[in-house]
Amino acid sequence: MEAADKVQVLTAVTSAGWDTHLIQALRSAPGRFTVARRCVDLADLLGAAGAGLGQVALVSGDLRRLDRDALDVIRRAKVGVVGVQPPGDAVADRERLSALGIRHHVPVDADPAELAAAVLDAIATVEGGAHASELPARTIAAAGGFGDAPGSSGAARPADDAVDPLDFVERGGQGGQVIAVWGPYGAPGRTTLATNVAMELATLGTSTMLVDADTYGASVAEVLGLLDDAPGLAGAARVANQGRLDAIALARYARRITPQLHVLTGIARPARWTELRPAALDAVWALTRSVAEATVVDCGFCLEEDEAMMFDTEVPRRNGATLSTIQTADVVLAVGSSDPVGLGRLVRGLGDLRELVPDISALNVVVNRVRRSVAGAGPEKQIGVAMERYAGVRPAAYVPDDPAALDGALVSGRTLAEIAPRSPARLAILDLSRRLAGLDTSAPGRRRSLARLRRP
Ligand SMILES: Nc1ncnc2c1ncn2[C@@H]1O[C@H](COP(=O)(O)OP(=O)(O)OP(=O)(O)O)[C@@H](O)[C@H]1O
Ligand SMILES: [Mg+2]
Repeated sequence: MEAADKVQVLTAVTSAGWDTHLIQALRSAPGRFTVARRCVDLADLLGAAGAGLGQVALVSGDLRRLDRDALDVIRRAKVGVVGVQPPGDAVADRERLSALGIRHHVPVDADPAELAAAVLDAIATVEGGAHASELPARTIAAAGGFGDAPGSSGAARPADDAVDPLDFVERGGQGGQVIAVWGPYGAPGRTTLATNVAMELATLGTSTMLVDADTYGASVAEVLGLLDDAPGLAGAARVANQGRLDAIALARYARRITPQLHVLTGIARPARWTELRPAALDAVWALTRSVAEATVVDCGFCLEEDEAMMFDTEVPRRNGATLSTIQTADVVLAVGSSDPVGLGRLVRGLGDLRELVPDISALNVVVNRVRRSVAGAGPEKQIGVAMERYAGVRPAAYVPDDPAALDGALVSGRTLAEIAPRSPARLAILDLSRRLAGLDTSAPGRRRSLARLRRP
């Protein structure tokens, strides 16, 4: 049965043990249930309900800030609510939840049939929502998700053995650097640059963790030909949020591409963006800094600080992942397309970026898809002059437009180094990566080494 055909359940119960018990009970319950989201707190639950990810929420009485207002928001999202009572304190807890208006209750150790009945009853009583008799009515797809299904493109990368935590532990070191790859709206090549820089750094001997933190359209898994992949970053962030992220946990969520390159894949369903919370990501970066010399992060395009204004309580911000990653990063690669529209967006975006990255030396502009047809003869020079005039910076790198190599990489699910090692785009990215790694490749007269992995 497709996940989308099942009753989508959200859980927001604070004790991890309960959570596990409920999930097991749901799995063996008669009927068709799937846990669409294990929410880490009330804000997460409100986000998931608002995004249409679930039809019913299991909540515990000790969920912080759970009140009538919050329950009202959940009901308006047409999500039923079932209160979950602890073994010892069931009566008082039930009374408290009833006082908030919750009508359906189960003990935390409910048997599967009892749990299933409460869930279906709660859904059936949601005004205007999906009726038990017409279940399943709402699907994740209907909520606008892309589905976690991997792309059809490319040959699958052979499944690696489980990642050995020693892969990480033995790296030692605490001073790994975070490289955020950002670019404005319009697909300028963030993922292309992030995946290829990561592969180049790894091939140069730098232990590298590639992370897809794009909350609008994660695609690293597809680009690398990783099929049937659960979003590793969401898993790592969830564990980090519980304060339990260590090398062993990280090994569960990371995939190995080469001995020096691991990847935490992103949320293919953009509606799951609430899972990538800045506080949890900060903990992920703290760990990846200690297990990899470079953490390369594919960020979303949007730098606006928006949703926080809509509520007076703390709520997830969709762009929070990008903003906090950029603020934490030691190096930011800002990539833009070389055409006039792309350059204009890049120049405006750099203005916003400078507020997040006060150390201008950490900011490196990469102009992608450079070609004569849009920038004239000697396009690098023309673009360099324009960027200097309008943004006050000289690009650190120019990557030529190279559809043959990039299309070949996409359809085979491989990086340029793997399938088009002599292509112009690859050579430009290799050169940039060598400078990022602090390797002095400069022949006399060439650009000075950036050595950006050591921020001045
Ligand atoms: N230098 C290049 N030459 C030719 N094609 C390129 C080049 N760089 C990127 N592309 C192609 O442009 C498309 C968009 O690239 P990419 O997915 O990296 O952009 P993005 O900024 O990550 O976009 P999104 O907003 O989807 O995350 C892809 O098909 C990619 O293969
Ligand atoms: Mg992308």
